[in-house]
Amino acid sequence: MSDAIAKTAQKTGTTAVQRCIVPACAATFGIREQIYLCPRCGGPLEIEIPLELLKSVPDLRERWHARAASQDARDRSGVWRFRELLPFDDGAPVVTLLEGNTPLYDAPRCAKYAGLTMLRVKHQGCNPTASFKDTGMTTAVTQAKLLGARTVVCASTGNTAASLAAYAARAELQCAILLPQGQISPAKLAQSMDYGAVVCEIAGNFDDCMRLISELGDLPSIYIANSINPFRIEGQKTVALELLEQCGWCVPDHVVVPGGNMGNSSALGKGFEEMLRLGLIDRLPKISVIQAEGSAPLAHLFAGLKPSEFAADRALPDEIAPVANPRTLATAIKIGAPVSWKKALRAVLRTHGSIIAVSEQEIADAKAIIGRDGIGCEPASATTVAGIRKLVAAGKMHAGESVVAVLTGHVLKDPDYVGHYHRGTLSFESVTEQGTAKSGPIAGAFRNAPEKVAATKEAILKSLESRR
Ligand code: F0G
Repeated sequence: MSDAIAKTAQKTGTTAVQRCIVPACAATFGIREQIYLCPRCGGPLEIEIPLELLKSVPDLRERWHARAASQDARDRSGVWRFRELLPFDDGAPVVTLLEGNTPLYDAPRCAKYAGLTMLRVKHQGCNPTASFKDTGMTTAVTQAKLLGARTVVCASTGNTAASLAAYAARAELQCAILLPQGQISPAKLAQSMDYGAVVCEIAGNFDDCMRLISELGDLPSIYIANSINPFRIEGQKTVALELLEQCGWCVPDHVVVPGGNMGNSSALGKGFEEMLRLGLIDRLPKISVIQAEGSAPLAHLFAGLKPSEFAADRALPDEIAPVANPRTLATAIKIGAPVSWKKALRAVLRTHGSIIAVSEQEIADAKAIIGRDGIGCEPASATTVAGIRKLVAAGKMHAGESVVAVLTGHVLKDPDYVGHYHRGTLSFESVTEQGTAKSGPIAGAFRNAPEKVAATKEAILKSLESRR
């Protein structure tokens, strides 16, 4: 396409553009411009897909569904089979590990625990690198290839790094990851080493790593794959489409996700919104975001909103008060200054959901209950079930409503946490109101410690009897 034609197409809304989400700015930029924030006002960018054009495509839902049975690599990816909604041409050098297509399970024990008749969980831990990040990394790394980047980088609490390392390896790109030293689960670190990334352990926390990333982003040969990158969000939004497909296009009342850097909640909001605008659904689910108490800047902001600020079309607050020293054993979401908070807040306000925080004890017990359903997940993911329980108790969710929790990472992502919980040695250092640190054990309500059993049949049977 010539530049002139591309510009006209851009103006008439027939091609995807990058658009600043700040309503007073709303500047647009070409899809192949390597930018992460609005060059005009510094606001966050999002991809605008020409949805009007798609409205004339017949049987989109049937087309997406049929692709699941095809042998084409793009069709077998749970992201690229929705490619009509992705900002790439047919000839794009797709970098895929066949991500997506993750299960939606019934979780009856979790439902009972939370006070619901039924609860379903969408297990994004069943992705190639065992977290939801893969659905966004396939599109971000494809874009990196298109832009001719030499190196892809990210700051991470572990999962983004593992995912980027894997996709960069597939794409034969150099990968550098910035991790807060000593604050990453060894299992996630192991993945990044194995996939061949340059692992930089930074003396600081995740927010320090994120600051360094924005400095590196000035270099054209380096491409940032954190969720400020709107191409990440494009891949991750397909989870909403896949979920709707699994629900027979019957919209759940609530979709609940953990909140860290806030890319996931932003992406789901965008996915559902686009389905509504295409007329493929007739309402939006309420999106609720759950944070860990010690790392909950957006839950604090949300709790402080005045009733008049809850209107979806109100201008978003300009600032968020960061948590200077975020704390939680759910290290994946140990983040004090989330970069995508505006997009996430917008999605929650538009859908009339909630943003709340849950305690370490609540996360730990919810995680064990998810395990008892035979599903399992990492600690950050369990904020969902803990949050749902709290929302039900607060009357914000009702027993008979349809609720989906998005589990973001696999149980094996953090085996140390699991072992400590079940052996009764999980301990958390919190800060008292006086500002002093206080360390205390978490008494798990659903502990299941291994026991030493003699090597005889009788001893084994006795052990089984005692646990009936
Ligand atoms: N759950 C898990 C397992 C995560 O790894 C993350 C984020 C989240 C939830 C929160 O998602 O940031 O989109 O709100 N992990 C990032 C990382 C920060 O570096 O792996 P979010």
